[in-house]
Amino acid sequence: MLPSKLVLALNDQFNNELQASHSYTAMAAYFSKKGYHGFANFYLVQAKEEHFHAMKFYEYLVTMDEKPMLQSLSEPKNHYVSAMDVLESSLAQEKEVTSNIYALVTLADELQEHATLSFLDWFIEEQMEEEKMFRDMIARMKHIEEGGEYFLKMDDEFAERKLEG
Ligand SMILES: [Fe+2]
Ligand SMILES: [Fe+2]
Repeated sequence: MLPSKLVLALNDQFNNELQASHSYTAMAAYFSKKGYHGFANFYLVQAKEEHFHAMKFYEYLVTMDEKPMLQSLSEPKNHYVSAMDVLESSLAQEKEVTSNIYALVTLADELQEHATLSFLDWFIEEQMEEEKMFRDMIARMKHIEEGGEYFLKMDDEFAERKLEG
């Protein structure tokens, strides 16, 4: 059992990760419609990763004898004007998740919940990597034109992305 305040916060993050998955699926659709199937694959894999993150919270709650509670998802942004718009929205979303994780760590620390602190360590690392990944993609995209030769090379590269467990 965990303090109820912490259970609510962990459960919110379980749902936030599902919302992130929902949002990345909408981003994939921008690329699918344009015929950039590599970028679409990248975002569909990203959506699966977020679902995997959600299930880590699900399993942690179950391990601690708590019940995961599903909340309704909100409609994600469905209209993007460019690949850069999608990438910048992705980075903004990851920064928001990082601050949610930090708030959870702060709460677990205040409550002296060491098991939860240890569980959250993985997410601190993961957020560092996710933010870096999108920052790097934005840096590459700054020098190229959407639909241009180098962009299509990136599209081929992203077609190879697979879910890492
Ligand atoms: Fe995540
Ligand atoms: Fe993420």
